[in-house]
Amino acid sequence: MIRIQVPATSANLGSGFDSLGIALNLYNQVWMEESDTISITSKDDVPIPKDETNLIYWAAKSLYERCGHKLPGLKIIQLNNIPMARGLGSSSACIVAGILGANRMLGSPLSQKELTDLAAEIEGHPDNTTPAIEGGLVASAMEAGRVYSVSVPVSEKIRFVLFIPPFELKTEKARSVLPQQYSRDDAVYNLSRSALMTASLFSGKLENLRVAVQDKIHQPYRSGLIEHLDDVFRMSYELGSLGTYVSGAGPTIISMVSSNEAERFSALAKSRLKEKGINGWKIETLTADPNGAQIFTE
Ligand code: HSE
Repeated sequence: MIRIQVPATSANLGSGFDSLGIALNLYNQVWMEESDTISITSKDDVPIPKDETNLIYWAAKSLYERCGHKLPGLKIIQLNNIPMARGLGSSSACIVAGILGANRMLGSPLSQKELTDLAAEIEGHPDNTTPAIEGGLVASAMEAGRVYSVSVPVSEKIRFVLFIPPFELKTEKARSVLPQQYSRDDAVYNLSRSALMTASLFSGKLENLRVAVQDKIHQPYRSGLIEHLDDVFRMSYELGSLGTYVSGAGPTIISMVSSNEAERFSALAKSRLKEKGINGWKIETLTADPNGAQIFTE
């Protein structure tokens, strides 16, 4: 079998709505081989679809069709470490695993560039799928169905502390509350900050991050969907966050923290949540993943 390892991703980084994303060192694993029937199992107790509606299967089938082949069936084994519907790219990870695995099974007819385009086409926007494939911090834009992107490494000085709530938020719902139009002032506010975010994460200019995460495009409209958001943001800044934002469409909240402060920050954050009676939230400290998805033969 082949094993495809795909990182979690955090899109938007506050200001870079639908255009910035980062790969993190938390991974889903998918084992896959061609078969005459569909067999989908899981190594954990996360509920997953076990028929053709399974996203990994569906993405693999799309790649086969794109390459002019019919997928006879597929054996899939999943290990789901990325929490679902939490703004950490779990759907992207399934899509990327499906198309990368299927491409390898067909003898790699599509290039990495073509895989990146197909993943974004299936997902709808490239800000989770492209970092899941390329790793690092990725700036991307779509033009005529193609992804134009650059992946840059993230400064070693930064850690990402995740506040993962005990509830889900579906991307469709989080997008449904956004306005259709924005003012020029709001557009410029975000454009300038997302450019600043890219350059600051790459160079490690940590003092810029607090301004670079600010956003007028999505977070103000989504905040009402995430219980305790204001408490978590306020507490994170009191404890020394360099910049706190809603990961992707939410509901996970991420604080960027200096690497030598991360342990202290996360220990204090845990006790603060407890003191405030905010229960069921998990706190995890991650680094940026520099490599993106990997395929192994086992
Ligand atoms: N950029 C997307 C959003 C991320 O914020 O809706 C979700 O995939």
